[in-house]
Amino acid sequence: MRHSLLMLSLAAALAAGCNQDANTPAANAPAAPSSTAAPAAAQAIAVTDEHSYAQPDKVRTTDLALDLAVDFAKKTISGTATYTLDWLDQNANQLVLDTRELTIQKVEGQGADGQWKPLQFALAEADKILGSKLTIETPERPQHVRIAYTTSPNASGLQWLEPSMTEGKQQPFMFSQSQQIHARSWVPLQDTPIVRFTYTAHVTAPKDAMVLMSADNDPKAARDGDYSFRMPQKIPSYLLAIAAGDLVFQPITDRAGVWAEPSMAPKAAKEFADTGKMIDTAEKLYGPYRWGRYDILVLPPSFPYGGMENPRLTFATPTVITGDQSLVSLVAHELAHSWSGNLVTFSTAKDAWLNEGVTSYVENRIIEALYGKPRADEESIIKRNELKAEFNDANKDLQPLAVKAGVLSDPDNNLSSTVYTKGAWFMEFLEKRFGREQFDAFLRDYFDHFAFQSISTRQFADYAKANLLDKYPGKVTQAEFDAWLYEPGVPSTAPQTSSSAFDDIDAARTAWLEKGTLPDAAVTSKWNTHEWVHFIEGMPETLKPEQLAALDAAYHFTGTPNGEIAQRWYPLAVRSGYTQANGEIAKFLQRVGRRKLIMPTYNALVKTPDGLKLAEEVFAKAKPGYHPITTGSVEDVIEKAKAAPAEAPKQ
Ligand code: BES
Ligand code: ZN
Repeated sequence: MRHSLLMLSLAAALAAGCNQDANTPAANAPAAPSSTAAPAAAQAIAVTDEHSYAQPDKVRTTDLALDLAVDFAKKTISGTATYTLDWLDQNANQLVLDTRELTIQKVEGQGADGQWKPLQFALAEADKILGSKLTIETPERPQHVRIAYTTSPNASGLQWLEPSMTEGKQQPFMFSQSQQIHARSWVPLQDTPIVRFTYTAHVTAPKDAMVLMSADNDPKAARDGDYSFRMPQKIPSYLLAIAAGDLVFQPITDRAGVWAEPSMAPKAAKEFADTGKMIDTAEKLYGPYRWGRYDILVLPPSFPYGGMENPRLTFATPTVITGDQSLVSLVAHELAHSWSGNLVTFSTAKDAWLNEGVTSYVENRIIEALYGKPRADEESIIKRNELKAEFNDANKDLQPLAVKAGVLSDPDNNLSSTVYTKGAWFMEFLEKRFGREQFDAFLRDYFDHFAFQSISTRQFADYAKANLLDKYPGKVTQAEFDAWLYEPGVPSTAPQTSSSAFDDIDAARTAWLEKGTLPDAAVTSKWNTHEWVHFIEGMPETLKPEQLAALDAAYHFTGTPNGEIAQRWYPLAVRSGYTQANGEIAKFLQRVGRRKLIMPTYNALVKTPDGLKLAEEVFAKAKPGYHPITTGSVEDVIEKAKAAPAEAPKQ
């Protein structure tokens, strides 16, 4: 069984028959016989990570030392990984690691005499989602084990880009995306956030490639093909990251800056100019930034996510560089993870809201502090509308913040509106009920209390009970609190948010739909991205093609460089049979690989036979430039559409 015991007292818990899922409310736990029960706080909480073969209750990696070579021609990383191990179980005789499509050349253990000796190992057949379990025979429980290995050119956690797929078109590029369970495709390891480790790396690459990692990157590093890194804080495996390419550095402040291809660096530094203020704001609220530098690496447009909170080096999509700083909440979000996620980490993907929900709340606080409440509210409303649209009877199991065991088969497919938006909404509910002063102090203490630990929803709930609910009685009942965590849907206690700017936009849209009068250019010229998004999102399911043409004539949505607008406009165009947009749709789907931006358009396309044909044609061309994560999602949608009879084409 794959499980690890967090907190104290394994024996007491077993004696008490306590092996409940950490994500069930305490009230549902089997009652322990009082004679053997440990006090509630000392009870063991069995945390099982369904998405890892590792056995962290037996042994834990405390340090990882990598010695790797990046080979662009072969699209591989190869070298050695050396683990420092803490054997918790003195009877353990195996080290079990996660791998995916790795070739393992050799495994050695270091004896008490300092000599490296070969160890026997077996690589199990691959599971589609989890990869291959690597079992190493370690009868002597060595403190150090070393593995020599090579990655596959198809590693799910790496993308290798030809020069033509970069901004500069001269040099190749590669980057990792380890979350959720893709670190195992480029390093054999205990790929569960239950385990935290420090790391060092020595990496060689072609001389003209700059290599960066989620570690102590030196803004002045010489590009010589030989790089060394150190990450002295303990991190979970999903925060292990690497990138290599034609990258230059541009400072923003003395502790923040951007890394990007040369032509992108000045634009990125300008777009993200407020990063220093964001760090200051977060520090004022939640205590010191504990990671040294905070830099942002701008990746090519094939990066499958908006951002990834790799410690000290956020990875970011270039699609948020719009020239008007309207999408910088992405930086606020990834920076916020320096507290919620990287410092206090979920112990399994089932607890994703602890990372993403708390972070989305902190993100919104940073936006409010820097750009004002109206903008922060607009951002909340857009997300809450998405949540309402995403929740349905079929995904009820994924709607509680604490997802039950066995529900989440592929951790890349968590219901994002639950973990992000419902999670943030829960935080805002608590903030409103307890008051800002108390709630800010609570969160700050929470980050300190669990700093550099990985915790379950149950641990959060216990901590909140002691430090909020019981400390300030009469503000929130346990039942109200639990409803957010364990029930589907949005609880009736949810605080509502409104925006007068959005009300004006609703009125403008209604006027156009009813009378055909478009809002004046003098008005729309002041609209920000969120306001345009709201204008489009409030449209009926379909419009007449002539209506879309009228909007295009006035506002030029088709061909927009703004991905957030494209994400909403193109599906509306597809649903409405506005085929004039097809050319630009094809270009957009080939230019951008960020999953969130392009999936709504693919989803709309596959609903009709003609659309499905276009989706397949475009995908065939775009696929070589897509990241494996995006490829997987698009293939899924196309395959499902082909298996199910398509809807009749719209008249
Ligand atoms: N940690 C996530 C990205 C992620 C989540 C990768 C789960 C793999 C599995 C990151 O912090 C994130 O939330 N990114 C968002 C951006 C944000 C502004 C909401 C994204 O990529 O859209
Ligand atoms: Zn996030």
